[in-house]
Amino acid sequence: MPEYDVLEIEKLKRETGRYAEKLGRKPTACVVTFGCQMNARDSEKLLGILLTAGFEESADEKADLVVINTCTVRENANERLYGHLGHLNSMKREHPLKLIALCGCMMQEKDEVERIRKTYSFVDVVFGVHNLYRFPALLARRMESGRKVFEVWDKAEKIVEDLPVKRDVPYKSGVNISYGCDNFCTYCIVPYVRGRERSRRPEDILCEIRRLAEDGVIEIMLLGQNVNSYGKGLEEKVTFAELLEEVCRIPGIERVRFMTSHPKDLSPELIRVIRDNEKVCRHLHLPLQSGSSRILTQMNRHYTKESYLDLTRRIKEAVPGISLTTDIIVGFPGETEEDFEETLDVVRQVRFDSAFTFIYSPRTGTPAAKMEQVPPEVIKERFARLLDLVQKIGAEESGRDVGKTLPALVEGSDPQVPGRVTGRLSNNVMVHFPGDESLIGKIVNVQLKEVHGFYYIGEMS
Ligand code: SAH
Ligand code: SF4
Ligand code: F3S
Repeated sequence: MPEYDVLEIEKLKRETGRYAEKLGRKPTACVVTFGCQMNARDSEKLLGILLTAGFEESADEKADLVVINTCTVRENANERLYGHLGHLNSMKREHPLKLIALCGCMMQEKDEVERIRKTYSFVDVVFGVHNLYRFPALLARRMESGRKVFEVWDKAEKIVEDLPVKRDVPYKSGVNISYGCDNFCTYCIVPYVRGRERSRRPEDILCEIRRLAEDGVIEIMLLGQNVNSYGKGLEEKVTFAELLEEVCRIPGIERVRFMTSHPKDLSPELIRVIRDNEKVCRHLHLPLQSGSSRILTQMNRHYTKESYLDLTRRIKEAVPGISLTTDIIVGFPGETEEDFEETLDVVRQVRFDSAFTFIYSPRTGTPAAKMEQVPPEVIKERFARLLDLVQKIGAEESGRDVGKTLPALVEGSDPQVPGRVTGRLSNNVMVHFPGDESLIGKIVNVQLKEVHGFYYIGEMS
């Protein structure tokens, strides 16, 4: 028996039916996602609810209902939302029956919700990350009453299982293993908006993955803000490494990825499980944030430059050929030229395959926002230097598998070249090779012939 309220979906179905009568056709819905994989997974649930209730999926914001799943990790994420809202407002003037709903991390911020209430009065429904499963009830109430519905909760009441889901692609899926974050890195807003860390029960996770496998999914991405601390607070003592091993045992699942790993909690046991399980993909995203031990302390990251270097060395030794990627923040308050040089030094030593580089963005309510800020022109100059180095090393590292034959999961047709498909290698690098659409969703062996920039050109063997 699903835990979410079936009656609420039935009610939404009835309201959607009335809405369809007014429109004279089946209503369309477009879900727009900002932010991380967690949000992407939540959006699949939102779309699942809407399709069950009688909406038709649309990729176009001209749709009758537009839901924006927001992110607030950096200021530019917030600016993007306001940009979209301006646009949606003019569309709504042309289509007065249009409905606009906002949800996600930014809606957990009271000031932003107030701003929307006052300045963006055309927004119909607002809800947050803790009451996502209430979406059918809230949307139905809006449709029935014609009045705006705002409902945001400060914290999670319970983990609701078994919401309907419309997966983005048929052959792979994200699966949440934990929600929220307890780490309180001093720059980060996620713990404030996503709440305390809560692990899903292992049996619920495994049951979901078994069902996905029966439904044709072959690749799983386990999702959590810090997957390595999975299990905290559960009655049954279980570590992330144990969970990962169990997931690999599920018949039909060929590949397992996970995101994100916090260096402070990455155990030797996990390194062994990666090493011993072919199904675990040869790619680890391990956010560094800064290479300066002094800044790492200020960031509350609980590791040092030396321990990070030692960890990456042990991983590379245990799993040769593994691809390491990272996140780096430039211009954290108080960052000096020497601190920044330490970051460059780690990049040179680890030789990441790629790195997401971010300019530090002060977030209201976080400790770092109150610290002394680095001048923007200094940050800009450092950012350019870091980007140069990251790209140079990435380019040097790319192509190290030329000549090898490796399995690739075919993800689609190559949009550039007809008669060619695009596959993803276990280490997350893409390869293009001759093939047709019937290969999509299958794992095939590809000989890597040459490298173009960051991807390979190959041939099926
Ligand atoms: N839980 C994950 C990722 C969270 S957000 C982790 O700990 O790695 C993704 C990335 O955004 C972070 O790794 C960090 O590099 C970046 N980020 C978070 N807050 C930021 C801020 N205030 N300014 C700039 N970058 C930030
Ligand atoms: Fe933010 Fe740190 Fe938690 Fe990642 S681990 S979500 S950076 S507080
Ligand atoms: Fe953004 Fe929320 Fe993810 S703030 S990065 S969508 S957890």
